[in-house]
Amino acid sequence: MIRQRGQRTLRPNCSSCHGKRLQDIPNKGPNLWNVVGRDKASTKFGGYSKTLLAWEGSWTYEDLNIFIAGPTLTTPGVNMDVRGAPDENDRLNVIAYLRTLSDSPVPLP
Ligand code: HEC
Repeated sequence: MIRQRGQRTLRPNCSSCHGKRLQDIPNKGPNLWNVVGRDKASTKFGGYSKTLLAWEGSWTYEDLNIFIAGPTLTTPGVNMDVRGAPDENDRLNVIAYLRTLSDSPVPLP
């Protein structure tokens, strides 16, 4: 259920730039496979901003929630100039879906 709802938001709003399978090569944005718990800006993607590179730590649910709410609003300077998922329900579904893009999903808080 959550997976389907998350996909419904991800497909039109995120998939044009992001791959989500292990083997996907970076597109206009970095691959999102295993993104939860991953070090920020740490994939082979060449287009990371200084801002994201400087944001310490790995992607926690909390940080994803901040970033995806409105990337350039919450995190000025990032290269992801899109609306993101400003609606809280949408956003939680997207994050719950991102969690499933892993062989060993990070436990929910
Ligand atoms: C127009 C292309 C584009 C779209 C659409 C887009 N992104 Fe991004 N995304 C990017 C770029 C470019 C970056 C790198 C940003 C930076 O370094 O400042 C990024 C970075 C990310 C990251 C951080 C990944 C990492 O390796 O640290 C996450 C998570 C993310 N995007 C999720 C999403 C989600 C969820 C959506 C849909 C709501 C979305 N993106 C829509 C281009 C896009």
